[in-house]
Amino acid sequence: MKKIVVLVSGGGTNLQALIDAQKRGEIVNGNITCVVSSNEKAYALERARANGIAARVIKRGDYGSQQEYDRALAGILLEEKADLVVLAGFMTIFGETVIREFENRIINIHPSLIPAFCGKGFYGLRVHEHALARGVKLTGATAHFVNEVCDGGPIILQKAVETQIGDTPEILQKRVMEQAEWKILPKAVSLFCQDKLSVQNGTVIISE
Ligand code: GAR
Repeated sequence: MKKIVVLVSGGGTNLQALIDAQKRGEIVNGNITCVVSSNEKAYALERARANGIAARVIKRGDYGSQQEYDRALAGILLEEKADLVVLAGFMTIFGETVIREFENRIINIHPSLIPAFCGKGFYGLRVHEHALARGVKLTGATAHFVNEVCDGGPIILQKAVETQIGDTPEILQKRVMEQAEWKILPKAVSLFCQDKLSVQNGTVIISE
């Protein structure tokens, strides 16, 4: 059984989707063992506690340099013996120490069809603001492995979602979550836990 550690910063609806999928038996060969938040007020922590999952907090502001913070975060993940790290709305940047330690073992969910609307500055509601401003008819979500390029790691799963007349960033965000994020993130995690994902030449091969 693989140990899954989920990193969060906010509401934690993607964490909830993972918990619900686990309860339905849809995370095959994986178990969420710990939730780590960058913010002690994150509602995601309540979700962890309500489901009997260990919860920890690590704040960037408590560490002087990026390196110190990276070492501390890597230390927590190693202490928790994480086989897989999931970024579910985790908004704090970490560097190579963590990425190298967990190469192709960190999965992020991003609320657009990468390579559209991604990279530095594209997170949360901002992604949907940009998508609507550009007038795209299709957007969606991407589950991908994390590498040293922001939102540039190998893509695991994507799902498209249509925009609609009258969409606000908030309305679009909710639709993308419901129709795409909450579906593909648990699926990507389950595939990982079953050793069905391999990275070859920067792309993900899924074996069924
Ligand atoms: C989600 O939409 C997630 O895709 C996004 O933040 C939201 C977190 O919501 N992540 C990013 O933008 C990362 N670049 P949640 O806390 O309710 O899961």
